Amino acid sequence: MQNRPLTADMTALQDSMEIPGLGVLPVNAFFLRSQQPLLIDTGLPHSRDSFLAAVAELVDLDDLRWIWLSHPDRDHTGALYELLELAPRARVVTTFMGVGILSIERPLPLDRVHLLNPGQSLDLGDRTITAFRPPVFDSPATTGFVDDLTGTAFSSDCFGAPLASAELAGAGDVSEVPADELAAGQGLWAHVDSPWLAGVDRTAFRASLEPLRALDPPLLLSSHLPPATGRAGEFLDRLGELPDFTPFAAPDQAALEEMLRQFEPPTQRSAEVPAAV
Ligand SMILES: [Fe+2]
Ligand SMILES: [Fe+2]
Repeated sequence: MQNRPLTADMTALQDSMEIPGLGVLPVNAFFLRSQQPLLIDTGLPHSRDSFLAAVAELVDLDDLRWIWLSHPDRDHTGALYELLELAPRARVVTTFMGVGILSIERPLPLDRVHLLNPGQSLDLGDRTITAFRPPVFDSPATTGFVDDLTGTAFSSDCFGAPLASAELAGAGDVSEVPADELAAGQGLWAHVDSPWLAGVDRTAFRASLEPLRALDPPLLLSSHLPPATGRAGEFLDRLGELPDFTPFAAPDQAALEEMLRQFEPPTQRSAEVPAAV
């Protein structure tokens, strides 16, 4: 867990998790130092304490006004309820579906919610941010946003990639990732996270990329990729080709049993092999 300043007003809270067989997935939250401060997602459950400490380094929790919840997947909600207690003025920006999904497990106080649909804007005092639905997503609640002052865009899970190491997952810019590894990782992640991609109408899907291409965000932030400066057009081109990629074949029970066999400790017999052979 580390805080990494990206611009004068944007900081990444970088974490990662290993996915067996795939690599190390970056798990980023972000903090926007707008007039009304905004936290973007709330980290991994098992990093909750360090995440809360990282947020407290960035802002007095009494001053935190907004928590943008991109969607209620567990890797985005780790410290959400603790923050609601620790930051009494903060309201959760999400969608009707986001509230519904969260409330299945634990009710979200409705007076702490601000519903914002794609196309709608939120006033942060010195700027507005406008919600959009990223072209690839894994939850009906997902929203990203564009900062109308700086052009920075946050895309939630979209554009993510598992990478070769925790060091790369925590890189300051995605340009540190070798080009081949980045292309393969983004292709893999899109099909892992959004398996519906394999069945889309290619023409309609490619058309859905155009609004984000027109925005051409100078800084593109993903929950699952190091920050990307000046790469939006290239990434959208790649995304447009991904429906033609071979879909991800997830490990099945036989693969799991093989994996478990590899984890088994050495048997008594192999441990007793004589030293002098
Ligand atoms: Fe997700
Ligand atoms: Fe995610």
